[in-house]
Amino acid sequence: MTKHVLYHELSTMRGDVRAFLDQPKKHFIGGDFVDGASGETFWTEDPGLEIVLADVQSGNQSDVDAAVEAARRAFEGEWTAMVPAARAACMFKLADLIYENLDQLAELEGLDTGKPAHVAKALELPFAAEVFRYYGGWATKVRGSTLDLSLNPEKFHAYTRSEPVGVVAGIIPWNFPLAQAAFKIAPALAVGCTAVLKPAEQTPLTALRLAELVVEAGFPAGTINVVTGYGHTAGAALAAHPGVDKVTFTGSTETGRRIIAAAGASNLKRLTLELGGKSPLIIFADADMERAIPTAAAAIFGNAGQVCNAGSRLYVEASAYDRVVEGVVEIGRNMQLGCALDGSSEIGPLMSKTQLDRVTSMVDAARGEGVSVLCGGGREGEKGHFYAPTVLTGMDTASKIATEEIFGPVLCAMSFDDEEAVLAEANRTNYGLAASIWTENAGRAHRMAAGVKAGAVWINSFGVFDPNLPFGGFKESGWGREFGPEGMAAFIETKAVSMHIGG
Ligand code: NAI
Ligand code: MG
Repeated sequence: MTKHVLYHELSTMRGDVRAFLDQPKKHFIGGDFVDGASGETFWTEDPGLEIVLADVQSGNQSDVDAAVEAARRAFEGEWTAMVPAARAACMFKLADLIYENLDQLAELEGLDTGKPAHVAKALELPFAAEVFRYYGGWATKVRGSTLDLSLNPEKFHAYTRSEPVGVVAGIIPWNFPLAQAAFKIAPALAVGCTAVLKPAEQTPLTALRLAELVVEAGFPAGTINVVTGYGHTAGAALAAHPGVDKVTFTGSTETGRRIIAAAGASNLKRLTLELGGKSPLIIFADADMERAIPTAAAAIFGNAGQVCNAGSRLYVEASAYDRVVEGVVEIGRNMQLGCALDGSSEIGPLMSKTQLDRVTSMVDAARGEGVSVLCGGGREGEKGHFYAPTVLTGMDTASKIATEEIFGPVLCAMSFDDEEAVLAEANRTNYGLAASIWTENAGRAHRMAAGVKAGAVWINSFGVFDPNLPFGGFKESGWGREFGPEGMAAFIETKAVSMHIGG
């Protein structure tokens, strides 16, 4: 069955989006929009229409040096001098401005990533605003503690201070650009850090629009800086920079390893790493199928599968296997693929030709190994990097397709016989980001939750994200947690102060 792809007309673009695209794109350093040192630029495209949206500065080492210096000045100056209540007010204002500019930001994000603008507007952009609000609330609640020494409590007065780690680099991916920018910056700002943000080369636009909102929100110059860059240049310069105290990163496990190496070879900067995943979605025969089946489909097809925690391995108890897989295939076949500005698009294209080639070659290789394709299995449409929602079955559970991150709308469906067996299968991967478990048996749900090696477990649900709920990976899915007080603690150095008080 050939699916129809909806292509939008650029003439429907909002006036304020067109005006923003027409403006020259510059780095945002020390409160000013500045040209890059090299004078080189690169373009960012809409991956649905494959048209260039804007030329963007190709940041290099000197741009990164300038941004880190500006962040350092703000850290040693105005941002640190502001009382926490005033810092909180800036963060609340930024959240308000995201809401006020939601339609424009949604269209920009849609065009730059290819995803439906209406989806970004409904889900991730309000979430980005809420993350600034949540951590704005924490800005006035950072605490240390007083404590008694265990060996000589009478002689000492001891307490801890929670101090900001310093200058933070946020290196972010292209799948949820503005939301990722918020995830990286907000907890850092809450504890008094300053930041340099490096958006992915494919999606620099909303970070640059955010920079304008940062000015409007009244943050002191240099508190937040944005350096755009092509390839690994700017990101690698930040990871190796002696003036950067911490990197918070989301992206591939491979790039995560490079950042670890760069931190190790430079100043042992602190790291929070949110990396790849191959998350299991496990459905027992007693599950509420009315919810489980559409959720399983959304878990892998949403955002065209370009989600770190995508439910990319579906395990169904044997007696329910046919019903569930047929249900998911049916949904996959009927999903509306389309461009960003078409209100009826449910999912957009893959991010780039590189991603399309990667997904295509992984599925083709699996097919060559005898894996069956139940729906999809190839590109859709004549232009744009669209890939059809795909369900595969009959794979070896230890094969590449069943264990490696695909990062596309491609589901591996497998059946199981009992709890113990499925738990062993679910844990048979180097990743450990998330798991979703479906059963009406509460005891089994909690046994599975305890047994699965994953940082997030969603029972009878999937993709529960909340600013107060820690998120991060076990094993090669990363280091540390984002969101909640845990996410903020990752930007704090604890200082222990002991004073001799006599006796
Ligand atoms: P990537 O991990 O290379 O890119 C993410 C960010 O890291 C970008 O801002 C990039 O410019 C930066 N970067 C690249 N090399 C760097 C270096 N040496 N030092 C510091 N920063 C560096 O991911 P890429 O190449 O865009 O996608 C490849 C695969 O990564 C995808 O197919 C997918 O499997 C995975 N990925 C996972 C994401 C997640 O949410 N966990 C998001 C994006 C990609
Ligand atoms: Mg783009």
